[in-house]
Amino acid sequence: MKKINHCKITIPAKSVNEGYARAAVAAFAALADPTLEELSDIRTAVSEAVTNCIVHAYHEKAGLIYIDLTLTEDNTLKIRVKDKGCGIADIAQARQPLFTTAGEERSGLGFTVMASFSDKLAVRSAVGKGTTVTITKRLQGRPA
Ligand SMILES: Nc1ncnc2c1ncn2[C@@H]1O[C@H](COP(=O)(O)OP(=O)(O)OP(=O)(O)O)[C@@H](O)[C@H]1O
Ligand SMILES: [Mg+2]
Repeated sequence: MKKINHCKITIPAKSVNEGYARAAVAAFAALADPTLEELSDIRTAVSEAVTNCIVHAYHEKAGLIYIDLTLTEDNTLKIRVKDKGCGIADIAQARQPLFTTAGEERSGLGFTVMASFSDKLAVRSAVGKGTTVTITKRLQGRPA
């Protein structure tokens, strides 16, 4: 499918940037005239993906988050959130609702939320190399 718009954002994995990432992705998505509900879903999914990079991939230490946005002519938004952190040993287990490696302060619902607020969620990871999460969302609005 032909790309009609794209954007790359690289930010340090700091919690202060979680809000920025959410707003930046929403601003890109807004160009495709989404519904308010779609925008809200996108913000929520991005927030979960970016938080995982900060908390799990880099364990609150220095690192970069690479966000890649693509809009295709069928008005599908692809949001790729990539880190070069610790990676995930068992992706199927990590995607199970309520599974967490972070103890009681986390609920283990991030991947479940990302999947339910999008049309497709793909997770690729290699231990010691990093993780790439791709969120696909079909938008109802007019193409930009
Ligand atoms: N980018 C990542 N790098 C390394 N591990 C990750 C990454 N994202 C998720 N994980 C692993 O997958 C588990 C499940 O992630 P998920 O987002 O579903 O839940 P959580 O982050 O533990 O809790 P919550 O999102 O509800 O606060 C995490 O506990 C962590 O072990
Ligand atoms: Mg999470």
